Amino acid sequence: MTTTPDPLHFPPRFAWGVATASYQIEGAATEDGRGPSIWDTFSHTPGKVKDGDTGDVACDHYHRLDTDLDLIQALGVNAYRFSVAWPRLQPTGRGPVNPKGLDFYSRLVDGLLTRGITPWLTLYHWDLPQPLQDQGGWPVRDTALAFGDYAAIVADELGDRVQHFITINEPWCAAFLGYGIGIHAPGHRDLAQSYAAAHHLLVGHGLAVQAVRANAPAAQVGITLNLYEGYPATDTLADRAATRRQDGFQNRWYLDPVYGLGYPQDIVDLLGEASPQAQGLVLPGDVELMGVPTDFLGVNMYSRSVIEDAPGEGFLHSRAVRPPESEYTGFDWEVAPQSLTDLMLRLQRDYDPPAIYITENGATYPDTVEADGSVQDAARTRYFQQHIAALQPALDGGAKVAGYFAWSLMDNFEWAEGYEKRFGIVHVDFGTQARTVKQSGRWYQDFLARTKAGVGA
Ligand code: FCB
Repeated sequence: MTTTPDPLHFPPRFAWGVATASYQIEGAATEDGRGPSIWDTFSHTPGKVKDGDTGDVACDHYHRLDTDLDLIQALGVNAYRFSVAWPRLQPTGRGPVNPKGLDFYSRLVDGLLTRGITPWLTLYHWDLPQPLQDQGGWPVRDTALAFGDYAAIVADELGDRVQHFITINEPWCAAFLGYGIGIHAPGHRDLAQSYAAAHHLLVGHGLAVQAVRANAPAAQVGITLNLYEGYPATDTLADRAATRRQDGFQNRWYLDPVYGLGYPQDIVDLLGEASPQAQGLVLPGDVELMGVPTDFLGVNMYSRSVIEDAPGEGFLHSRAVRPPESEYTGFDWEVAPQSLTDLMLRLQRDYDPPAIYITENGATYPDTVEADGSVQDAARTRYFQQHIAALQPALDGGAKVAGYFAWSLMDNFEWAEGYEKRFGIVHVDFGTQARTVKQSGRWYQDFLARTKAGVGA
């Protein structure tokens, strides 16, 4: 398989970007009227985040907006994906807009446009206003309704300048990691709750799509799912069936409803009483609402899963195995670029989205800063090269891949891992807030320059 991408292989209007999320970079957690989110509460609870790290300061992006925008521009991207912190805009998750919060995002959007960069706005990247969690959070339907109202406000206020909206980032993580196994905010451990949350995240998605369509009719809107192609550990029937179950849990549970198919029955059956159906949460009209047509599918892809049958293990009776011969990132995620090609072709075949954007892809490795201040992150550079190259056969095979966003613009607050895990193509010294473009960032910059100039590999 090709490991160096060819700039000439990508369509001229391809979106090339970098991505971030509000809580991971902004800091200024209590400034200008911002209310608390579940991630403030969670990160301030001892033992939840590595080394007690919080997003209080993060990359201090809130105070460094202009220089960070210059940095983004210097990379040569034509698109930037960021998220709006709901509690910055609506401090309690409901009610009037906080003008200072709105002003920040308005300046961000204007700053991008004056630099010739297309804003891609994510409405929800996990920072739920704490007061909404206090009223039940995503396991209650009211949260989805509040989210729809918030989406309407954002689309109304920024939709004159923002033409690309992502409703929810990775509902699987928000639901399962947050409410199922408790390693993310709000830290609950209850399977039924996590499926109640997942259902309301998808209902919220549907409501947000409708709100964006109503208030920003020219804009494109979609959802971002974290998808991992699954492969059976062996070719046995049992391992293949286990892989199918894992695929239902990770991928189809979200893809099927977003594409109007309702929930996959095999997983509904496995969930039993924990399913949203058994909990009585799927109301008439929900299948249509979750499946309201979208303009694109956002895909966050980092790895693949290799699965074996494991009777009695969890509700899926399956387990992930770790192929020993493979290469792994600092998160112990297998480097599996071929699976990106497979995933793109499979999505096009099974769901036929009008367009697919890779809204996140990247890798963490323990970086070292050299004596001259540089960061020679060869493994990360190779990771990006291999994954961008993996899109070429997908395009050739008919997958409508229309853009790629590297995760992440800069090192940031990596959720439960705090600041230890670095994903940036720009290094951040969290003591001084100095930003240094890594080797991977320089490579991306050069690749994008060649894309623009029409210079081949
Ligand atoms: C994804 C998240 C993103 C980042 C990467 C590494 O699950 O969407 O915020 O943390 O993982």
